[in-house]
Amino acid sequence: MAVAFSDIPLYRGWGAPLRVESDIRDLEVAQGEVPADLNGTLYRCGPDRQYPPMFKDDVFIDGEGMAHMFRFDNGHVDYRSRWVRNERFLLQEKARRSLFGRYRNRYTNDPSVAGKSMGTANTNAVWHGRKLLILKEDSLPVEVDPDTLATRGTWDFAGAVKAVSLTAHPKLDLHRNELLMFSYQARGDCTRDFAFYIADAAGKIVHEAWFDMPYPGMVHDFAVTDTHIIAPFFPLITELDVIKSGGPFYRWHPEQQSHFAILPRRGPASEIRWFRGPAVSAGHMMNAYNEGSKVHLDLCLYRGNCFDFFPTYDGSPFKPVPPLLTRLTFDLGGKHDGYEASLLSQAPCEMPKCDDRYVGKPYRYGYGICRSPTAKAGEMGFGAIGRFDHQRSELAAWSAGENCGVHEPNFVVKPGAPEGAGYLIVIVNRIAENRSDLAVLDAQRLSDGPLALLKLPVRVRSTFHGMWVPERALATGTYLA
Ligand SMILES: [Fe+2]
Repeated sequence: MAVAFSDIPLYRGWGAPLRVESDIRDLEVAQGEVPADLNGTLYRCGPDRQYPPMFKDDVFIDGEGMAHMFRFDNGHVDYRSRWVRNERFLLQEKARRSLFGRYRNRYTNDPSVAGKSMGTANTNAVWHGRKLLILKEDSLPVEVDPDTLATRGTWDFAGAVKAVSLTAHPKLDLHRNELLMFSYQARGDCTRDFAFYIADAAGKIVHEAWFDMPYPGMVHDFAVTDTHIIAPFFPLITELDVIKSGGPFYRWHPEQQSHFAILPRRGPASEIRWFRGPAVSAGHMMNAYNEGSKVHLDLCLYRGNCFDFFPTYDGSPFKPVPPLLTRLTFDLGGKHDGYEASLLSQAPCEMPKCDDRYVGKPYRYGYGICRSPTAKAGEMGFGAIGRFDHQRSELAAWSAGENCGVHEPNFVVKPGAPEGAGYLIVIVNRIAENRSDLAVLDAQRLSDGPLALLKLPVRVRSTFHGMWVPERALATGTYLA
């Protein structure tokens, strides 16, 4: 069978499957100078397509994982990308074709891979417990070599994780060197099990709590405060009869409520407080923190369905809604199960982050991708990097330029510096030139433009998430301690 990709919008232009593993020693410095104190590695992960999919209707969150690394070494930056060679990849490599069907739908797979892992390992990379883990919420983490990106294999925390999958959005507590993680549909497709885990600095599971979700929904991200975790449940729901008949893995159910479970970080599931509200959705959380008996959760909230490729259950048309930075406030001291919602910014934004030392704590600055300040009315493309100042309710931004896109920014903590003093590192899509740049920005002076702009001669196909690992953390396995 000849390898040929369909002519669908997803594969045109920037989204064209790339299928290339790169090694570039010493990226060209096109502008400015790489800061001398910036030593470490930026890890990123995103999907590509190993082979044309079995079905034509591909979705952009599917595809086999490609891991990327930018190693900063005294002003020099080396780039490398490698496929994550997990079970799925190796089976397809041998067969020279796709063997796994529609997104997460095992009932559409080739019979030859029955019982095999569908995991794509395409969403995030995290360095913890001296392991570099590549994550996708459909399966367990895949460990790769932090220097070469060579795949080492599936990691189930020495057998301690019994859930069938782990989130791509764990929260790293830099102060305790703990990794907080969860699994949803944790005993398999359509199960209502939710599992929460904490791994200590050595990567040993030291706490777990299991409870039932209101429905077998999607839980892409969660949030933590210094004392609690917040698990959101939005009504994008998996239905066994639908997937068995070859349908989408999730369908939007606006007639259902959203639910939020708040439980003590190390508490039993019996201590959960449940809160409820209208059907909304969100991919990503910026941060959460406590204020007395209140818990604040800042997230990019869609007042409807955030995914146009997961249809409404009754066939009604998709209604696009913008992601708006919103604060939800839950009162653990009160008796009612509602919450307050307040808009923090009018500018649509996504891929929210904060200074990693402030995860779970009261904080002033948040970062993300946002609409360029020069965008025309009605334009929704995310071509700018923004910094939200919650104290002043201000948005500062840097636009990458016309016909350019930006990936999620990663914050680089300057040890000992006050909140927000550091760098943002961002992959930039130069769409007209069909290649990428890597921009290093002063996180406090975004509008001044990049301190350094590194030029790649190749395209870095879209990446979802990643993290900056300082040289010292890579050597010691610990961050601030
Ligand atoms: Fe995500």
